[in-house]
Amino acid sequence: MVLFSLIIFCITFLIDSNSCYIAETRLGHNSVIIHERLLVFGGWKNSSNITKTYTSSEIFYLDLTKQFDTENEQWELILEGNLPVYECFSTSLVSKLDDDIIYLIGGFRTNITTGEPEDDPNLIYMYNYSSITWTPVKVNNAITRGEISGVIDDKGIIYIYGGNNITNYSNFYEYQGKLYNDIQILNVSSTIWTKLNIFQNLPSPCSAYTANLLTNGIIVYIGGFESDSGNYTMANLTLSSMKILKLFDTKKSEWSQMNVTGGDTIDPRVYHSSVLAPDGNIILFGGVGKYYQPINTKIALLNINKDIYEWSIPSSSSPPLLFGHSANLYGNYMIVAFGCDVNALTMNSQIYLFDVNQHIWVTTYTPPPIPNASNKPNKSSSLALGLGLGLGIGGSVLFFLGIIFYKKNKTKPSTNPILEIAGSRSISDSS
Ligand SMILES: *[C@@H]1O[C@H](CO)[C@@H](O)[C@H](O)[C@H]1NC(C)=O
Ligand SMILES: *[C@@H]1O[C@H](CO)[C@@H](O)[C@H](O)[C@H]1NC(C)=O
Ligand SMILES: *[C@@H]1O[C@H](CO)[C@@H](O)[C@H](O)[C@H]1NC(C)=O
Ligand SMILES: *[C@@H]1O[C@H](CO)[C@@H](O)[C@H](O)[C@H]1NC(C)=O
Ligand SMILES: *[C@@H]1O[C@H](CO)[C@@H](O)[C@H](O)[C@H]1NC(C)=O
Ligand SMILES: *[C@@H]1O[C@H](CO)[C@@H](O)[C@H](O)[C@H]1NC(C)=O
Ligand SMILES: *[C@@H]1O[C@H](CO)[C@@H](O)[C@H](O)[C@H]1NC(C)=O
Ligand SMILES: *[C@@H]1O[C@H](CO)[C@@H](O)[C@H](O)[C@H]1NC(C)=O
Ligand SMILES: *[C@@H]1O[C@H](CO)[C@@H](O)[C@H](O)[C@H]1NC(C)=O
Ligand SMILES: *[C@@H]1O[C@H](CO)[C@@H](O)[C@H](O)[C@H]1NC(C)=O
Ligand SMILES: *[C@@H]1O[C@H](CO)[C@@H](O)[C@H](O)[C@H]1NC(C)=O
Repeated sequence: MVLFSLIIFCITFLIDSNSCYIAETRLGHNSVIIHERLLVFGGWKNSSNITKTYTSSEIFYLDLTKQFDTENEQWELILEGNLPVYECFSTSLVSKLDDDIIYLIGGFRTNITTGEPEDDPNLIYMYNYSSITWTPVKVNNAITRGEISGVIDDKGIIYIYGGNNITNYSNFYEYQGKLYNDIQILNVSSTIWTKLNIFQNLPSPCSAYTANLLTNGIIVYIGGFESDSGNYTMANLTLSSMKILKLFDTKKSEWSQMNVTGGDTIDPRVYHSSVLAPDGNIILFGGVGKYYQPINTKIALLNINKDIYEWSIPSSSSPPLLFGHSANLYGNYMIVAFGCDVNALTMNSQIYLFDVNQHIWVTTYTPPPIPNASNKPNKSSSLALGLGLGLGIGGSVLFFLGIIFYKKNKTKPSTNPILEIAGSRSISDSS
C-alpha cells in the first residue's frame, strides 16, 4: 500500500525530476546529516542467503530543505557514491573540522566481490561529500570493532568505547568473539589513534550501546550488551541497566556511573537509538531484548539538565517498536529510519518523525528556515544539532538470526531461512 503510493508518487515526481529512489529495507545501517541531507548507507539487508549478510553498498539521501510526508518521502540515490566494501554495525561521524567529511569506522565488513566476511585492511574510510569519493584513511595502530557508537567533539577527537570483535565467523549461528571496555580515540587532524590508559572505575565490556556527547564533555552511554568475562557468547551476555548509566568525562578521561531516577519500568535493551535534543533531553527510542523479545517502553526521555539525570516516559503511539533503525536530529525532528519491527519481525523501509519540542509523533516534515549565511554559526550549522545515532548493532543480530534459523531448521528444513524468521513467533517466546 505504502509502496504503491510511493511508486505513484515517484512516477509523478519523475516528470519534473530524474531522481527518485526506492530504498530497500535494512538494519544496522549508518545515517548522518550532512549539508541539509540525511545520508544513509550500509546495513544488513534482508537477503535470501543468510550467509551473505551484508549486501548493501549504495548511498542515498533525503533532502531536508524540502517538506515531505512520512508516507511519501523521496530518497535520492548518489550515483557513483557506492561504498568500497559491504559493512554494517559500524559508526560514522561527520567531521567537526570539515563539514564535507564523513568518517566510517569499524563494523562488520564483507568483501563485495566474494560476499565473504573479511578483515578489511582499511579499518577507517573517509567520504568526501564534494568529490563523492570514499578513501581509506591510513591510521596506525587503529583497533576497530563492531557494535560501536562513536562521538566527535569540537576539536575533531572521536571517542569509541568497547565494542565487539568477532573472531570466528565459521559457524554463523555460533559466532564467537570478545567484548571490550576500553576507550579509543582518533584525532582526525593528525590521524593519530590512541588507546586511553584508564584504570579506575572501568565499566563492563560492552557493545550495542548508544553514546551521546553533552556540551560539558561528558559522554552518556545507554543500554547495550555486557559481558563481565568479555566472552561474547549468548550465555555470557547480559543487558546494561537503564538505571545505572555509564558516563565518560572526555575532559578528565574519567569513568563514572550515575544512578538515575525514574524509569523503573524501562526495560534494558540493545539495538536502540538515542539523540540529544536541544532542550536537554536524550531521546531513547526502540530496541529489543536479549532474545529478540519486545520491550515495554518504546520511547523515553532522559533529562540531563538535572544533577541526577531523570527518565520520563511521554505518551506515545504511532510508530512500531523498531530495532536496528537509525535516529538523527534535525531542526525540531528526530528522524527514525529503517530497522526491524520487533513485533512483526519484518524489516521496515519507512521513516518516522518525532517532534522533539512537543514530544509527539508527527507525519509531516517542515524544513526549518535556512539560516542566513551571515548568522550561520561557523561551519557546523546549529540545525544539524547532535548526530545522535542508534547503531549499537552487530554480529549478534546475525547471531540471533542464525540461532533462529538453526532452531527452525532442526525441525523444518528450509531453503529460505529469512522467510522462516519472519513467520516465527517462537523468537519472542524463546526467553
Ligand atoms: C549462500 O552463500 C554461501 C557463501 O557464499 C554459498 O556457499 C551458498 O551456496 C549460498 N547459498 C545460496 C542458496 O545461494
Ligand atoms: C575482495 O576479494 C577479491 C577476490 O578475492 C580480492 O581481489 C579483493 O582484494 C578483496 N577486496 C578487499 C578490499 O580485500
Ligand atoms: C574533498 O573534495 C574536494 C573537491 O574535490 C577537495 O577540494 C577537498 O580538498 C577534499 N577534501 C579532503 C579533506 O580531501
Ligand atoms: C580480535 O581478537 C583477535 C584474537 O584475539 C586479536 O588478534 C585482534 O587484535 C582483536 N581485534 C580487535 C579489534 O580487538
Ligand atoms: C570456530 O567455530 C567453529 C564452529 O563453532 C569451530 O568448529 C572452530 O573450531 C572455531 N575455530 C576456532 C579457530 O576457534
Ligand atoms: C590533534 O592533532 C592536531 C594536529 O596534529 C594537533 O594540533 C592537536 O593538538 C591534536 N588534538 C589533540 C586534542 O590532541
Ligand atoms: C572465555 O573464553 C576463553 C576462550 O576464548 C575461555 O578460556 C574462558 O574460560 C572463557 N571465560 C568464561 C568466563 O567463560
Ligand atoms: C560463558 O559461556 C560459556 C559457554 O559459551 C559458559 O561455559 C560459561 O560458563 C559462560 N560464562 C559466564 C560467566 O557466563
Ligand atoms: C547505585 O545503585 C547500585 C545498585 O542499586 C548501588 O549498589 C550503588 O551503591 C548505587 N550508587 C550510588 C552512588 O547511589
Ligand atoms: C525477508 O523477506 C521475505 C520475503 O523476501 C519476507 O517474507 C520476510 O518477512 C522478510 N523478513 C524480514 C525480517 O523482514
Ligand atoms: C536574513 O537575516 C535578516 C536579518 O537578520 C532578515 O531580515 C532576513 O529575512 C533574513 N533572510 C533570510 C532569507 O532568512
